[in-house]
Amino acid sequence: MQRRDVGFWQRLAGRIGGPVLELGCGTGRVSLPVARMVETVVGVDRSGEMLNVARRRLRRSRYGPRVKLVRGDIRALPFLDPAPFRVAMAPYGILQSLLRDRDLKKTLASVARVLERGATFGIDLVPELPEWGEYRRRVSLRGRRGARGGHLTLIESVGQDRARGITTFDQEFVERKGAERSSRRFSIAFRTLSLRQMRNRLERTGFDIEAVLGDYHGRAWGPRARAWIILARRR
Ligand SMILES: C[S@@+](CC[C@H](N)C(=O)[O-])C[C@H]1O[C@@H](n2cnc3c(N)ncnc32)[C@H](O)[C@@H]1O
Repeated sequence: MQRRDVGFWQRLAGRIGGPVLELGCGTGRVSLPVARMVETVVGVDRSGEMLNVARRRLRRSRYGPRVKLVRGDIRALPFLDPAPFRVAMAPYGILQSLLRDRDLKKTLASVARVLERGATFGIDLVPELPEWGEYRRRVSLRGRRGARGGHLTLIESVGQDRARGITTFDQEFVERKGAERSSRRFSIAFRTLSLRQMRNRLERTGFDIEAVLGDYHGRAWGPRARAWIILARRR
């Protein structure tokens, strides 16, 4: 799943300024390029493994020192100062990865607490989750890692639990080098949420909806939009 969202987050941060918070920053795929635009980006993630990958990525970049990585849970953001951030970014369906409504509510309240008045909360929802076809262990990529690296295979599976509105996406990276074989798994489940549900929850948590966009270039949302992006303003 190649995403084309990074330029969007860079432009948003560049327009508003920092400090910027990323919810579920993972490997720093978004946080690091956003750090080209503002002095301070804070990425929060609960996975130590993801943050280790991010740390290696930051060390290789001149913008790395602008990114602070914090291990924590977005349902209870670990910041003591009230309202230190001007922008919060929720890329790549992170809010849909909260599978229970009470976790979503806690997260929105937690974000509201750390944003200053008038700050912007950008939310990117994965729109077509229920339409993802189910498949098991499909090889989606084969290749070699560098000239002397091992042989890489990426195996993906998608599962649907329609009764609960949950879509599960599994990736397994298998690397073979001579007789050695290593494998890493990454699994994420998303909950189907309508735009209206998300808007209502935001409004109830102290946000006004500023815009709903249908792509990463800023075009307005329509029923056939490929992306669902909400920009909300902290009251
Ligand atoms: C699909 S990855 C996206 C990473 C990054 N935002 C990107 O777009 O490349 C989702 C990340 O959110 C993190 N995550 C999920 N639930 C979380 C929670 N409750 N608190 C903190 N991090 C969480 C996961 O560990 C994972 O690194």
